Amino acid sequence: MEEGVLEESRVRVEADQIWDLRPKRLSEYIGQPRVVESLEIAITAARKRREPLDHVLLHSPPGLGKTTLAHIIATEMDVNIVTSSGPAIEKGGDLISILTHLERGDVLFIDEAHRLSKVIEEFLYPAMEDFCIDFIFDKGVHARSHRYRLEQFTLVAATTRSGLLSAALRERFGIQRTLEFYTVEELCKIVERSASILKVSIDEGGTFEIAKRSRGTPRIANRLLKRVRDYCQVRAEGVIDKEIVDEALKLEGVDEIGLTDLDRWFLETIIRYYKGGPVGLEAIASTLQEETDTLVDMIEPYLLKIGFVIRKPNGRKATELAYRHFGLSWPHASKKQLSLG
Ligand code: ADE
Repeated sequence: MEEGVLEESRVRVEADQIWDLRPKRLSEYIGQPRVVESLEIAITAARKRREPLDHVLLHSPPGLGKTTLAHIIATEMDVNIVTSSGPAIEKGGDLISILTHLERGDVLFIDEAHRLSKVIEEFLYPAMEDFCIDFIFDKGVHARSHRYRLEQFTLVAATTRSGLLSAALRERFGIQRTLEFYTVEELCKIVERSASILKVSIDEGGTFEIAKRSRGTPRIANRLLKRVRDYCQVRAEGVIDKEIVDEALKLEGVDEIGLTDLDRWFLETIIRYYKGGPVGLEAIASTLQEETDTLVDMIEPYLLKIGFVIRKPNGRKATELAYRHFGLSWPHASKKQLSLG
């Protein structure tokens, strides 16, 4: 490789490190106090015993910090981390190659663990429990099996849908935690921290406005902060305040409670095309021409959390809060009054 190319890539990596907003240690982590406290205890105890940490299963909607926590666990345990994902591990051989290269105590992080195939899940059981795997080569009379012994490792698995993992796999995680949406106060602290890393000047009003529109999600808070920073640099200059955030996020299609175009289309589809529901998710997905997985993972969790949508056995329903957000009158109001009266 030419020296110039090397030089350039080294500079780029350094820049990425400077701008990386993710906390590196548990002590820097904002929010999720119960998860942080229980991990702190488990890590301290494992370190005292000089043992690898138990396997960890982290469950939450996207952007709430599962990957960040996996890296923090490796840093706090002072071990290497190897990362992969459910869809990337297709064959038994892929998994064996990863597992046999792990050193004692290493963290194997598997993102989207609910997308592991049943075959791979079954390879994982003995690997997690007994730190060995039996691999069968060939079929029929030529079949030979080989037992691979593994170093004791820690599997950290992340999923947006723990319900899709087999019960057998779930039971093998000693530590299982669900991350919740962050409060606006916690998101304010995250925006403040990120602004200070990015050397962005922002006042309390601007910080609060970004936090309020981040759908309870640090990844969104950091993304909006970067968009507002760009806007300010080109159109405004000076300290970012509420007004600048308002203008910048209007351009981004993010409304005053953080809903995006896709959130609004999702709600409007239920309200306008299906008279408020109940309507099946597949019908909404085909109207929107979106994957059902995108709706289940990225859109629904926050709308359920803020009470704009409810899930019923026969489908999704928009609530009175959602109607009011769009300035629409609640069609069931008169019925409710009648039954009250
Ligand atoms: N950046 C993104 N998520 C964070 C968190 N939970 N704490 C601190 N900084 C963050």
